[in-house]
Amino acid sequence: MTTPPGDLKITIDSAGLQRRIDELALISEAPAPVVTRVLFSEADQRGRQYVRNAAREAGLALREDAVGNLFARWAGSEPGLPAVGSGSHTDAIPNAGKFDGVVGVLGAFEALAALRRAGFKPRRSLEVVMFTSEEPTRFGLGCLGSRLMAGTISVEKASSLRDAEGRSLEELRAAAGCNGPLESVRLPEGYYHSFIELHIEQGPILEQRGIPIGIVEHIAGPSSYRVTLKGEGGHAGAVLMPVRHDALAAGAEIALAVELAAKSSGSPDTVGTVGVFRIEPGAVNSVPFRAYLEIDLRDSRLDTRAKALSEIRSAANQACASRGVTLEFEEINADPPAAGDQKTIEIAERVCAQLGLKSLRMVSRAYHDSLFMARVSPTTMIFIPCRNGWSHRPEEYSSPGNIASGAEVLAHTMARLST
Ligand code: GLV
Ligand code: MN
Ligand code: MN
Repeated sequence: MTTPPGDLKITIDSAGLQRRIDELALISEAPAPVVTRVLFSEADQRGRQYVRNAAREAGLALREDAVGNLFARWAGSEPGLPAVGSGSHTDAIPNAGKFDGVVGVLGAFEALAALRRAGFKPRRSLEVVMFTSEEPTRFGLGCLGSRLMAGTISVEKASSLRDAEGRSLEELRAAAGCNGPLESVRLPEGYYHSFIELHIEQGPILEQRGIPIGIVEHIAGPSSYRVTLKGEGGHAGAVLMPVRHDALAAGAEIALAVELAAKSSGSPDTVGTVGVFRIEPGAVNSVPFRAYLEIDLRDSRLDTRAKALSEIRSAANQACASRGVTLEFEEINADPPAAGDQKTIEIAERVCAQLGLKSLRMVSRAYHDSLFMARVSPTTMIFIPCRNGWSHRPEEYSSPGNIASGAEVLAHTMARLST
């Protein structure tokens, strides 16, 4: 017998959820309030152990795949049916805060624990995923776990990934105890009936409008590029300006071209960032002979993103030709935007209305594992407000009340989808 979801009364243990968020935040490569947990670092490993324990405390059965995606399941009365999924990530970029991703993992555990306390019995299994490496810090590529689950990255490409120190994914995952072929990470067709990710908004709209819940209709399409520039080094006093081949100066022109192309693309959603810019040798009295940049370019439209990219590429060609610097411009990823599933969105909206919570349909400008789950399952996301829209910085903050509301909406939405 399943409990009719309309009659379901659940209570989120907000204090318990907050305590777990605070405890996980202390597992970090940097002192509090900074959270840094880079994939397969010692802190990431301890964070994973924390997540395993939290899943067991919530009464969920664990499974881990060959890339370290962790699945915590509450078996339904018809366990052979496609499951209702939720989840997010717990890896954190350098100098991050404690809510990005974590709210979607620990909040989903609490959502299921609250359903269990309320006596709910799911028909479809309910499953929470902690995705491996949503953040691109280690390999320059985000959403590694969900890309492999959805089959949108080839196993060859994934196995050839190397970090800045030249360590391969294969070596690092083996050292972290993730065994088995990467092929096995791909989900069988129809694995999920639906997928809903809870996340902080990472933008200011909900807070500014005083709305507690956002429901994601679209996720902007991310792309990123690796640019390697080789010039000629030499003594900063002795090499005169007319004969310079300064790799940094060429890189600086490219960085400004990224900004200009994003600003003038014709779409307000085009954003371009040079988040990595390294030079060699990095000495004040030496002309930089090498520069390395990583460009992040996103948009909710593919045409304006493509236009911006072509402007950046031609500015890079020009800057390098005029400075006698060689240019390598490589794509790391170029993903299409994703659309949320209308039926799942409407269910989440009805839940909000019944709980008396105002909701707003939104575009996610950040990417999430849901971008890839949307390729294999009807998907949406539940956003909650965060202070000043801050994210990817230690001041990131979302109130216990907003987090509890997000977990409550998630619990009811999953319950409805599971019957
Ligand atoms: C995810 O962290 C993103 O960069 O959008
Ligand atoms: Mn992030
Ligand atoms: Mn995130």
